[in-house]
Amino acid sequence: MSVISVPQAFNEEDLYVDLAPIVGRALFLKCEGFNFAGSIKLKAAAEMVEAAVRDGVLTPRSILIESSSGNMGVALSLIAANRGYQFLCVTDSRCNLSTRLLMEALGSQVHVVAEPAAIGGLLGARLDYVRALCRSDDRYVWLNQYTNPANWMAHYRTTAPAIARQFPGLDVLFVGAGTTGTLMGCARYFREWRRPVLIVAVDSVGSVVFGGEPGRRMIPGIGSSIRPPFLDESHVDDVVYVREEDTVRACRRLARGGFLFGGSTGTVVSGALGWLSRNSARELTAVAIAPDLGERYLDTIYHTNWLKSLYGEDVLTAGQPVTDSRQLPEGCRPRSCSVHSGLEHASKLTTRP
Ligand SMILES: Cc1ncc(COP(=O)(O)O)c(C=O)c1O
Repeated sequence: MSVISVPQAFNEEDLYVDLAPIVGRALFLKCEGFNFAGSIKLKAAAEMVEAAVRDGVLTPRSILIESSSGNMGVALSLIAANRGYQFLCVTDSRCNLSTRLLMEALGSQVHVVAEPAAIGGLLGARLDYVRALCRSDDRYVWLNQYTNPANWMAHYRTTAPAIARQFPGLDVLFVGAGTTGTLMGCARYFREWRRPVLIVAVDSVGSVVFGGEPGRRMIPGIGSSIRPPFLDESHVDDVVYVREEDTVRACRRLARGGFLFGGSTGTVVSGALGWLSRNSARELTAVAIAPDLGERYLDTIYHTNWLKSLYGEDVLTAGQPVTDSRQLPEGCRPRSCSVHSGLEHASKLTTRP
């Protein structure tokens, strides 16, 4: 039995879905959506708030403020409500309605930015808005998930060791990139681990995290229109880009197996399957991280009209099944990125005793 008195005290850390029956390939999905915030962001939010309290930055008169595509906003809403802080979330028009309502139900204020900035798109506009508010009133405390080391530290301390405990023979870990907190925390942990693990970042086409060309992205959580300040590419072995159409198809395929996951999980699964079919000469022990569940996306990814209006009439019928590597996007190395080739590492893995 688990008994808790603060909502952030509960997080299911050891639940994995074996995707083999659904996708026909060995891939374990670490489910991060089973906590009261419904996403992996609870860990980063809790760690950032703890650090701010410890450092004396957060005081009873503080107003927490954060730019978020949704999940960090929900996580901070829950913690702020529990600890008695005011919280203002600055999001943009891509934030799901249910996510916005959830934050408001927890007592937070939500401001929605609709006009993209000339540099940095909607995220750039959100960050400008937060900076302006912070200048206007010194009660605002901006934890800044993009620059706060407590973000990646949360995953270095919890997510990565939890995977290491359950998968002592881990070969490759697939992690989606947003702020790159999850990616950097896991990558740093596994660099120091007792055996080599390939770290493969999964990003969406149109994101500039690894220096790609900016483009339209409608699925929140994954990708970024600015380069995350704490991304260190030397810890990343390979990068895979996934088109949003493939994200949607992967989500729908998982849903047909009874597993309703969020958009970034579809991206990570699609990218991981493409990478595995191109690179693994033998069955690798592979884990992918699923940041949240699908209920918040019922009016977007799981809504046929929304899909068709954005991606065209045949978005759900076009393409091969997600297990077929021919329909998966080419893994590509961004021009400005010094990541190693996954193939190179995979062949090293296959020759290891
Ligand atoms: C649904 C979802 N997936 C993935 C991510 C990316 O995680 P990170 O910011 O640690 O890179 C986020 C971050 O907000 C998210 O909300």
